[in-house]
Amino acid sequence: MKIVRFLSARKIKRKVKELAFRINQNYRGKEILLLGVLQGACIFMADLLREIKVPVQIDFIRARSYGESTKPLQEVEIFLPPKDSLKGKNILVIEDIIDSGFTLKKIKEALRRQNPSSLRVCCLLSKPSRRKVEVKIDYLGFIVPDKFVVGYGLDYRGKYRNLPYIGFLER
Ligand code: IMP
Ligand code: MG
Repeated sequence: MKIVRFLSARKIKRKVKELAFRINQNYRGKEILLLGVLQGACIFMADLLREIKVPVQIDFIRARSYGESTKPLQEVEIFLPPKDSLKGKNILVIEDIIDSGFTLKKIKEALRRQNPSSLRVCCLLSKPSRRKVEVKIDYLGFIVPDKFVVGYGLDYRGKYRNLPYIGFLER
């Protein structure tokens, strides 16, 4: 396996600031509840969080797709925070990557049932060529070609999350 560099730490940092700038504008005068999707979004969320200037709380969602292959499967299990912590909040879901769209779609459906006051999505990466279900991304970092990416929180079988850049995993 080798990793071919795709997005440098500098490029990612600049994009995180851009996204935070838009978020700060759109939520001016409001409070946000950031919901990070574990585990992939942890690094992105930690960096984004420190650029957000409006009052913000954080919590986490666990989404587990079955199997360990590089092809995400359709069955996704979602674990949400306690429901009284979501009602009436301005929820911003933080995701690492949208591939088929199944995970995010399930997350949004589960969250909508908790009656948040608003529900938006901020995602670092998107592979639109692999989409199976349409799902709206309100704040998107980068479009990615149809290749498996690792680093900056994204893993392959639990590894490579600690890389400061994002690269393509190639055989
Ligand atoms: P989905 O197909 O949109 O449901 O994506 C499911 C999950 O698969 C994402 O949240 C990621 O955790 C993971 N995933 C999809 N593509 C990649 C990739 O290229 N690298 C690492 N993880 C990925
Ligand atoms: Mg994920």
